Amino acid sequence: MHFLDNYRSIIRDAINKHNLTNPPHQLYDPINYILTLGGKQLRPIILLMSCELFDGNIEKAIKPALGIEYFHNFSLMHDDIMDKATLRRAQETVHVKYNENTAILSGDALMVISFQMLEDLEPHLFKKCFCLFSQTALEVCEGQQYDMNFEKQQIVSFEEYINMITGKTAVLCACAFKMGALIAEAEPDDLKNMYEFGRSLGIAFQLMDDYLDVFGNQKTVGKKHAGDIVENKKTILYVLAQQKADEVQKHKLNYWYTITGENENKVNEVLAVFNELNVGDSCLELVKAYSDQAKNYLNKIRVDTNKKHTFYELVDYLLVRES
Ligand code: IPE
Ligand code: IPE
Ligand code: MG
Ligand code: MG
Ligand code: MG
Repeated sequence: MHFLDNYRSIIRDAINKHNLTNPPHQLYDPINYILTLGGKQLRPIILLMSCELFDGNIEKAIKPALGIEYFHNFSLMHDDIMDKATLRRAQETVHVKYNENTAILSGDALMVISFQMLEDLEPHLFKKCFCLFSQTALEVCEGQQYDMNFEKQQIVSFEEYINMITGKTAVLCACAFKMGALIAEAEPDDLKNMYEFGRSLGIAFQLMDDYLDVFGNQKTVGKKHAGDIVENKKTILYVLAQQKADEVQKHKLNYWYTITGENENKVNEVLAVFNELNVGDSCLELVKAYSDQAKNYLNKIRVDTNKKHTFYELVDYLLVRES
């Protein structure tokens, strides 16, 4: 049994108990659909782990953990519309299975429900968690906007890229770690280090997501192979390729990234440039560097080293994950 499975079954049970059966079913069916497709449920798991690390009451953390997972699923419903993605967790995306308007409105409802999950916290915790959550939610929107802006921007610097993924992905991980620690009433220094730990880990996570889009197996990843290339996404692979390319390779990249729509030729040509420049390996080196940075923050947290063991394992798990 994997060390995350215990936490995962707590989260799955809680999601199943919270099954939404009230009318109108057209609004709630898509929500139940995406939530029961599974996924890794990493964000709620890390919230629970973080609460436990500081000897907090896990029971109190379950609903906020669901809130983070609901928010994540809401963001995926809308992200899949923006990215024209047809496959999520190896199944049809919500807007393909239902339709776009449904995915927009069910997504909105799920976002509201995600905030409701904080309502049972005592007032002082509610205030802190709500402020953290709403600030994070706004930063996710900012990151998503940069991600879309970059579709039409030929040169994206490494700094611009890191800023974009910090918003769209890393801050929600950071929020999950910090919220768990907040619920456990951890000390301010530890709260800060937990947040930074989550932010570095979230960056490593998104780098790996970019890697898997191209070099992962569609079956295990559960998303359409090379969807980022088709959508002209300025992933880390693209950013590194632009940095390393000679004039001919630059010309090829610039040409293909103005073409829109499914195009097998394009995917193959871009893949060939990525392989010539070995950007896959460079990406994995960056994943390692950000994971090491995450571990440095973890080192600073003032709890017994033995208790941090599963956190180091979590970081390493990201280095080898396949989905
Ligand atoms: C996908 O997140 C979106 C990103 C921020 C990369 P996950 O890879 O955690 O997706 P699920 O929830 O496990 O399906
Ligand atoms: C998703 O990033 C980030 C959010 C949903 C906020 P991606 O677009 O890279 O995620 P996937 O690859 O579709 O899961
Ligand atoms: Mg996407
Ligand atoms: Mg996206
Ligand atoms: Mg992706």
